[in-house]
Amino acid sequence: MADYLLAIDQGTTSSRAILFDRRGCSVATAQREFSQHFPRDGWVEHDPEAIWDSVVATCREVLEHAGVDAAAVAGIGITNQRETTLLWDRATGEPLHNAIVWQDRRTAGACQALRDGGHLDAVQSRTGLLIDPYFSATKLAWLLDNVPGARERAERGELAFGTVDTFLIWRLTGGRVHATDATNASRTALFNIHEQCWDPELLTLFDIPASLLPDVKDSSDDFGTVEPHWLGGELPIAGVAGDQQAALFGQACFTPGMGKSTYGTGCFMIVNTGDMAERSRNRLLTTVGYRLNGEPTFAIEGSIFVAGATVQWLRDGLQLFRDAAETEALARQTRSGHSVYLVPAFTGLGAPHWDPQARGAIFGLTRDTGIAEIVAAGLQAVCYQTRDLQACMSDDMDVTPDTLRVDGGMVANNWVMQFLADMLGVSVDRPTVLETTALGAAYLAGLRLGWYRDLDEIAALWQCERRFVPQMEEAERERLYVGWQEAVERVKSSR
Ligand code: G3P
Repeated sequence: MADYLLAIDQGTTSSRAILFDRRGCSVATAQREFSQHFPRDGWVEHDPEAIWDSVVATCREVLEHAGVDAAAVAGIGITNQRETTLLWDRATGEPLHNAIVWQDRRTAGACQALRDGGHLDAVQSRTGLLIDPYFSATKLAWLLDNVPGARERAERGELAFGTVDTFLIWRLTGGRVHATDATNASRTALFNIHEQCWDPELLTLFDIPASLLPDVKDSSDDFGTVEPHWLGGELPIAGVAGDQQAALFGQACFTPGMGKSTYGTGCFMIVNTGDMAERSRNRLLTTVGYRLNGEPTFAIEGSIFVAGATVQWLRDGLQLFRDAAETEALARQTRSGHSVYLVPAFTGLGAPHWDPQARGAIFGLTRDTGIAEIVAAGLQAVCYQTRDLQACMSDDMDVTPDTLRVDGGMVANNWVMQFLADMLGVSVDRPTVLETTALGAAYLAGLRLGWYRDLDEIAALWQCERRFVPQMEEAERERLYVGWQEAVERVKSSR
């Protein structure tokens, strides 16, 4: 009898494999980092073989750590860094180029030209997205135009496009399945979220041959079986979702108005809007939260490109501390209400500013500013940015949810979570299982495989480990936030 679900979480800086039991508890984990490639300013690439090797290795390791073989696993859920774009040869499975990562800004000029051409409304109304280098469409067009022979080969039907989920499914199934799920498709800027299909007009606009595209399935669906030589058994792939949507699912945000914020490399705040694809008035994204039995549940999303990556930069770039765990003690040394602001616009600004040319800065330095204040400012930046998103969401939805569920590496820091609650003015709930991204992928697979009857059964498994309640005076909250807004204005490229 199979006791576990295997979740593959293929993220921006590492791949993880986690085994979950029926109650959603993780029983074993394996993780491998892989190299980031920065061939030019603003360019970010991954070697697809490094991604693939790390995924296979972590899956094998996690089985070994748990002391079980494939027979103990009922099925696989895949969740992944979204938008990252791959192009490969259908005959050999060989990628034609490194993956172009979601953070990559090389198509900023192409996006500007499309906006200047008046195409924003067509893209936003069909896809729920904006025209920005973040999404896959212009990255794929760049590959077709810059890899010698790629466009001609694509026209002849010899190539396949995919986000990371699709590439992994293709490889795991030995090239038998070329598919993605609706959440990943909804991040390409080629998918019509209202019709739930690839949009012919957008394919024309971005100059993408339809023959490249994968089938779009539900998030809980049959994505084929893994060839037995990879993991020692023919495991079904039964759940797939982009990592932020998987976290929404793992956090059991199944009711309209429920939201989560994930603090990984970046920070992504998503609120469930039910069957309504709300169009944002504040430059947030409308996206597919999950799709079950052909029915999409929509969500509104704010995407911040740099969150945990700030901590990484403070550690590795500035070498202010050795271990991220030290940041809590450092931040506690600061005087509350200090006025140092760090705007981590290393790769431009995401929602709601969408300014790819903005760059980072530190403001408000005084003679007594030390390491602790700069570290605290880095941590606080993540909270201020969440507040930016919260303000936009409240305006879009006409309500402010009174709690926010959080997950991701940074939420282990109690000082940050308290400051987040203070800055948002709402309760911040940290669940017992922090691996909610992987958990969401496992739940999606479990739903398909009959482990769970319905969403209520999954929601009942969610448990709060600690609730952070706002304690800051309203006037102080506003004073600090106004200082942040001024700092952001000063880094924008259009000043
Ligand atoms: O949209 C990009 C996002 O999916 C990346 O997530 O967790 O790898 O930073 P993460």
